[in-house]
Amino acid sequence: MRTVWQHCHVATMAEGRYAAIEDAAIVTDGGLIEWIGPRAELASGDAARTVDLAGAWVTPGLIDCHTHAVFGGNRSGEFEQRLQGVSYAEIAAQGGGIASTVRATRAASEDQLFASARQRVQALMRDGVTTLEIKSGYGLDLANERKMLRVARRLADELPVAVRATCLAAHALPPEYAGRADDYIAHICDEMLPALAAEGLVDAVDAFCEHLAFSPAQVERLFIKARELGLPVKLHAEQLSSLHGSSLAARYQALSADHLEFMTEEDAIAMAKAGTVAVLLPGAFYFLRETQLPPMDALRRHGVKIALASDLNPGTSPGLSLRLMLNMGCTCFRMTPEEALAGVTVHAATALGLGASHGSLEVGKVADFVAWQIERPADLAYWLGGDLPKRVVRKGLEITH
Ligand code: NIG
Ligand code: FE
Repeated sequence: MRTVWQHCHVATMAEGRYAAIEDAAIVTDGGLIEWIGPRAELASGDAARTVDLAGAWVTPGLIDCHTHAVFGGNRSGEFEQRLQGVSYAEIAAQGGGIASTVRATRAASEDQLFASARQRVQALMRDGVTTLEIKSGYGLDLANERKMLRVARRLADELPVAVRATCLAAHALPPEYAGRADDYIAHICDEMLPALAAEGLVDAVDAFCEHLAFSPAQVERLFIKARELGLPVKLHAEQLSSLHGSSLAARYQALSADHLEFMTEEDAIAMAKAGTVAVLLPGAFYFLRETQLPPMDALRRHGVKIALASDLNPGTSPGLSLRLMLNMGCTCFRMTPEEALAGVTVHAATALGLGASHGSLEVGKVADFVAWQIERPADLAYWLGGDLPKRVVRKGLEITH
């Protein structure tokens, strides 16, 4: 239905940065934005419907471009251990960490995984999220990675949210491959990825490049396979140490490299050239009490696009609020509220390969937006959680929770 949304101000985020139109109007039709601009310039047309947004600030629907929202169990016990001084790496070495979530995820049925993930995704949606990415990576064999990815697809079918599904089979070494990481990578390349891609379950391929996970050489073999299958790549890189995974990701035109606390200026230059988005994850930084900051100045100086995401996962970032990540991006990483907003809209869309259709409010793009009852856009990064009054529109239709 053709609709005029008015009595609002809009942060369009067009062309990759904060840009505002005061006293604006948006015309939507068929799920897309047909017109947007100052209300005074709106031609009187044949809109079937006019909606008064009561002075709200409108932003693009928020995009959480890095989550592990599907998993079994939780790891609050490890949180307690870490508070006693045991490190994330030590817990992983003792068979906890990702391996413990793998056990719980393998033991859970598809319906159980769906039910728990649904609650978490709904929590993100209550914060204005209209698109999110969900990674596999707690199954680590064909049947269980498939189970996770099917849950990701089902969430998109049953909730008013768009989901990009990322295969993260190279997240950790499954116990049945202990001591045989190269064989596991070969298994992913030869069996798992081709099968999952053929079933239409994979939108992108990711890996964890780290001493306690996979080496750059192993990641590269996976990237070559992804390229052969026509799938874009992403990478968990430079979270705990510097292996230059982000430069490797840039060489493969990765959509994004994520975490990045230990990246170098050379990595930033490579990413800027390739257009690879830097996805910063302040929830994991905070929750692990990391002290090494991502090199914000180098990222800015070289013009790397910076996104922010929740990294929602049971081990390092049990974060159910993307708005809280806006605050943490500002408080922990010294981003401006405008940079943070770009990080969960326009740059997050690019990090998911959706830059042409999502992430900013421009003619021809999908009409996903949030009308917030706030005084200024910076308020989105200011409040620590809570439920801000808002109306959420997806594909031109208002959704209710
Ligand atoms: O993004 N870095 C690796 N993966 C997750 C952590 C997963 C876990 O501990 O369960 C992350 O932080
Ligand atoms: Fe992650």
